[in-house]
Amino acid sequence: MIDINEIYFVTSNDHKIEEANRILSQFGIKLKKSNIKKIEIQSNSLEKIVKYSLLYAIKKLNNEIIVEDSGLFIEKLNGFPGPFSSYVYKKLGCNGILKLMKEISDRRALFKCVVGYCSPNIKPVIFHGICYGNISYEIRGSHGFGFDPIFIPDNSNGLTFSELSPEEKDKFSHRGIAFRKFGLWYINNIAKP
Ligand code: IMP
Repeated sequence: MIDINEIYFVTSNDHKIEEANRILSQFGIKLKKSNIKKIEIQSNSLEKIVKYSLLYAIKKLNNEIIVEDSGLFIEKLNGFPGPFSSYVYKKLGCNGILKLMKEISDRRALFKCVVGYCSPNIKPVIFHGICYGNISYEIRGSHGFGFDPIFIPDNSNGLTFSELSPEEKDKFSHRGIAFRKFGLWYINNIAKP
């Protein structure tokens, strides 16, 4: 029988838990939602945000924890919305981004994900994932969350994240890349035998 390693995930975003658990199931890891609030400092660096949140959360929860921060960075908008993606999504949504991009033909963008892990005995360890692509000209697809309907990852035959199946999104996505790196590291360094 395979032991399942359970780790707290400090997030209020159920989509992220679902995606992370889909990716981590192959490593025998299950994330469970922690009821601690994720504290986010204002910073341009996702890494700094994750490290601060980890150190705050570990004081409250004397256990293994994961924190994740992610964002959409649009080249011609100088990286906007970046670390403010969650706020901008709530205020402007996908339509707001499409409006901002109306006159812009260079649609290069990337999603970045930073995953942080720590435990009472282990100092924060950070894993990165980047997914390159383009912003679409219209909203397309029904899967996923956030900016998925307007992001076309490279090598997806022009389909947005929302038009891909969840498992296909995982293959390309920033979250898929970062959590697979974490999963590999965890089974090689931490997992119970
Ligand atoms: P935060 O990491 O909780 O600060 O939120 C990042 C925000 O970026 C989310 O609320 C989404 O709007 C957006 N985002 C991050 N990852 C994804 C993704 O995989 N698909 C679509 N939008 C995403």
